[in-house]
Amino acid sequence: MTTRGIILAGGSGSRLYPLTAAFSKQLQPVYDKPMIFYPLSTLMMAGIRDVLIISTPHDTPTFERLLGDGSRYGISLQYVVQDAPRGLADAFRVGRDFVGRDNVSLILGDNIFYGKLDFYRRAIANNTGATVFGYPVTDPERYGVVEMGPGGKVLSIEEKPTAPKSNLAIPGLYVYNNDVVEIAANLQPGKRGELEITDVHRIYLEREQLNVEMIGRGVAWLDTGTPESLIEASTFIHAIEKRQGLKIGCPEEVALQQGFLTPDEYRASVALLPNCSYRTYCESLLRS
Ligand code: G1P
Repeated sequence: MTTRGIILAGGSGSRLYPLTAAFSKQLQPVYDKPMIFYPLSTLMMAGIRDVLIISTPHDTPTFERLLGDGSRYGISLQYVVQDAPRGLADAFRVGRDFVGRDNVSLILGDNIFYGKLDFYRRAIANNTGATVFGYPVTDPERYGVVEMGPGGKVLSIEEKPTAPKSNLAIPGLYVYNNDVVEIAANLQPGKRGELEITDVHRIYLEREQLNVEMIGRGVAWLDTGTPESLIEASTFIHAIEKRQGLKIGCPEEVALQQGFLTPDEYRASVALLPNCSYRTYCESLLRS
């Protein structure tokens, strides 16, 4: 069964204003790349080759200019405009035609993962209903929070609770079977007036089809929603890239690793890049 990918790159980005006055959060730099390169690479690393980018009327053309039709990465990229921010679950309404009868994984355009992504590949391979992940944080009240009971039973799932029942945040990376399309189509807006992804998960939970997988130590999940977390993410990426001489979130590199591009196709794709350290890095991969 094919799993398609959706990157949600809409929203007003108000917490990052005035950075976001001219262009959206997911286009902001995270050290040496636009933010969206990271979630795009995450999907690609899990073998996903059909990706839909959902953004605002204002920013969608910019994403198209940045990433094109995906052929440079050996993937297919499509774009669709969300005319107003109606919540995360709206992605499955706006993206309904794109999803078709396939499974789908949603990643939020401001979520960055670093480390071994086996947890994600496993979820895609084994998913039956919906799979979300649990990640321990010190500030769970900022996120969707899941409470686990004995034997991996999900006890509760809440969106930004004032009194969190656990320290397990749910990152913005989700895997669904095709039922999500129908669930989202029938969803009512929540208290914030938005179609809440947590309500989608609650429906899967009621159907006893919600799986929660823990993301173990050794995986970094970075948040980029505030000026402080944005600079922290940049510093983190910078430190690792500088130390290892390897890039994080380079879709060209992932395309080569995954075999989405043959070495010749890769060479042709890299030849289109301007002269810069990013190009030098991409060229060096063919020699290593
Ligand atoms: C959204 C989701 C929340 C999730 C978070 C991850 O929150 O609603 O459940 O934990 O993304 O980044 P938002 O970014 O809209 O505050």
